[in-house]
Amino acid sequence: MNILMVCLGNICRSPMAQGIMEQKLKKHDLNNTFVDSAGTAAYHVGEKPDPRSVDIAKKHGIDITQQRARQFTVEDFKKFDKIYVMDSSNLSDVSALADGKDDLQKVELILNTVFPGEDAAVPDPYYGGKDGFENVYQLLDSACEKIAVAIKDN
Ligand code: 4NP
Repeated sequence: MNILMVCLGNICRSPMAQGIMEQKLKKHDLNNTFVDSAGTAAYHVGEKPDPRSVDIAKKHGIDITQQRARQFTVEDFKKFDKIYVMDSSNLSDVSALADGKDDLQKVELILNTVFPGEDAAVPDPYYGGKDGFENVYQLLDSACEKIAVAIKDN
């Protein structure tokens, strides 16, 4: 099982999602599941995660400093079984690159795992303060726990 976390810049939300998901995979002994992250935009390709994401992750015992931003590509539909996006704009950007319904079915708003059918967004924290990053962490932690338990139960 290969999981891809996607946001806009791949420096704030999806690197945190990747780090949290890696922690959950360890916690639940899901050794056959791999997780990566990407951004729909190329603005920050090659950069480390935003220092505010690094700090919040570190506060919760997760090291995301080794990650580097990359842009989502159509090849990702081949490599990944599930593509979790943060908001409706990520959803339309990724869906626009899909080749048919098998690709489209892989894409899901990550918070629909915790709030089914609500189509809620993980808010973009980039232009806000530290509280926004903690909020993102809490939302992603709930979602990743759900995802890990669902994989385990499958
Ligand atoms: P992310 O946050 O999508 O969670 O990584 C953003 C990062 C950068 C920008 C916007 C959102 N930006 O406009 O550069």
